[in-house]
Amino acid sequence: MRLGLFDSGVGGISVLKKVIELCPNNEFLYLADTARLPYGVKTTNEIEKIAEEISFWFSNQNIDALLVACNTTNAIALDVIKKNSNVPVFDLIVSAASTINESRVGVLATPSTVKTKAYTNAILEFKPKTYVIEQPCPELVPMIEMDNINSDEITDVAIKYLQPLLEQRIHSLILGCSHYPLITPFFTRVLPSGVKLIDPAEALSLKLKLFIDSKTSNFLKRKNLVDSKFYVTSNPRKFSIKAKHWLNVFPEVKLVSLQKKGCVS
Ligand code: DGL
Repeated sequence: MRLGLFDSGVGGISVLKKVIELCPNNEFLYLADTARLPYGVKTTNEIEKIAEEISFWFSNQNIDALLVACNTTNAIALDVIKKNSNVPVFDLIVSAASTINESRVGVLATPSTVKTKAYTNAILEFKPKTYVIEQPCPELVPMIEMDNINSDEITDVAIKYLQPLLEQRIHSLILGCSHYPLITPFFTRVLPSGVKLIDPAEALSLKLKLFIDSKTSNFLKRKNLVDSKFYVTSNPRKFSIKAKHWLNVFPEVKLVSLQKKGCVS
């Protein structure tokens, strides 16, 4: 199958890697809207417009399903994406919320995601008695995008954001921005052992696998179709260098315009 996924930058690579683990024999089209990164401090109107442009772009890419690898767009504009997509759409937030079993849950996310309370609302739909506390983390995405990830500074920042959640004695922690699973070792280092770490991409991948299994013939499943294509809205070289950090290879990255159909170079 040909699967589209998108994020503002490198964050969606954490989703891509999880999906490839569970659903390897597929072709992936990864779009990073690097020209407008970060999304996490943008307004509802801005994110809705972005969501419309991205779903329009993907509607011309002949994909079989679209994966929303960005929590901010997921929280604010999932309805816009679904309305403008001609294929099934898989999201992170409801997928993760449906798997939550703990009664006290912490969420780390971008300021725009936290403002919507999308995680709280989705979790309460499934388990109304759950206590959910959400923490905005404005500094993390810029640090991860700058590849500033081995510094003491990022550990200090992670501790600062986790502190209020730990004071509320959470039993699980949702990484509610796809950039954060890229720095999982920093979270596991500072989290008490009793707190379960949740990457929403796992729940998304499970749902996607069921969909793929129901649609794909055994013949196709056996074929090795692993293939990923990367597109950005600015500076392909810079994205390729950054992506190598997470993928171990320099991906070929093409520049696209979301205002026009297809590639511009
Ligand atoms: N990685 C995205 C998310 O999951 C967007 C982060 C950003 O651009 O601020 O929210």
